[in-house]
Amino acid sequence: MNAIDVTRVALVTGGGQGIGRGIALRLAQDGFNVAINDIPHSADAAESVKAEIEALGRRASLVLGDVTEPAAVSSMIDRAVSELGRLDVTVANAGIARIESILETTPESWDLTFAINAKGVFLTWQAAAKQYIAQGGGGKLIAAASQAAYRSAAGLPAYSASKWAVRGLTQAAAQEFAPHGITANSYAPGIVNTPLWKDTPEAFEALVKTIPLGRAQEPADVADLVSFFASPNSDYMTGQTVIMDGGMIFS
Ligand SMILES: NC(=O)c1ccc[n+]([C@@H]2O[C@H](COP(=O)([O-])OP(=O)(O)OC[C@H]3O[C@@H](n4cnc5c(N)ncnc54)[C@H](O)[C@@H]3O)[C@@H](O)[C@H]2O)c1
Repeated sequence: MNAIDVTRVALVTGGGQGIGRGIALRLAQDGFNVAINDIPHSADAAESVKAEIEALGRRASLVLGDVTEPAAVSSMIDRAVSELGRLDVTVANAGIARIESILETTPESWDLTFAINAKGVFLTWQAAAKQYIAQGGGGKLIAAASQAAYRSAAGLPAYSASKWAVRGLTQAAAQEFAPHGITANSYAPGIVNTPLWKDTPEAFEALVKTIPLGRAQEPADVADLVSFFASPNSDYMTGQTVIMDGGMIFS
């Protein structure tokens, strides 16, 4: 390694499994050094993703912390920058989905979904944007929305509303940060084959049958879109929440 390493750096929250892991590995293949965040409870999974990135010949950093806690998010960004030298791409991917009707949803459950899916994106992007501005030269803010950000899903009221919030934040961030050369875009997947569905396999299988392209989405499909968002090819694109769901909904 040279004394000054100018390799671009990406950070992925919720990177220990599922879509986050797929994005982290793809960005490593694209040439990024990668900081992996997940909750401390998932440290083992995040550690093995770090090892996978290093096996691809890139540098990796483990930046554990809960994205709902401002101090944890701030130290996550600081640690990524101190260990990998800079920050160019930030993927606020961490999210949860609880299948429950409006009548079943408790205020606590609503708050938890919003804390991770919406506030977690806000805190992560805010801390990343501060770093981009201090560093100079722009940067990429990316977040996980969902097709539910366009057509709310029955049985997922808090989840759907939290993803509409991500779409709204994406548009606000695009306008606020454009003068700094910072873009903000979000990905809106459909039905992705990840552990998120582990407790509801019947719902997953039933939904997969409705996908026009005839198969479940894989994390690597989502990573294709995020790779574009992270690259100079998307430099003229900002404020967009892009549906990639095998043709289930259109907007
Ligand atoms: N799987 C799908 O069908 C699907 C579809 C559309 C959108 N999404 C979105 O994509 C993102 C990733 O989904 P997934 O399917 O990979 O989920 P997943 O449950 O497989 O992985 C989510 C990861 O986020 C981590 N995480 C949870 N809370 C966290 C917190 N407070 N701080 C830091 N990390 C936290 C988990 O530990 C886990 O590693 C989510 O935002 C989800 O809403 C998923």
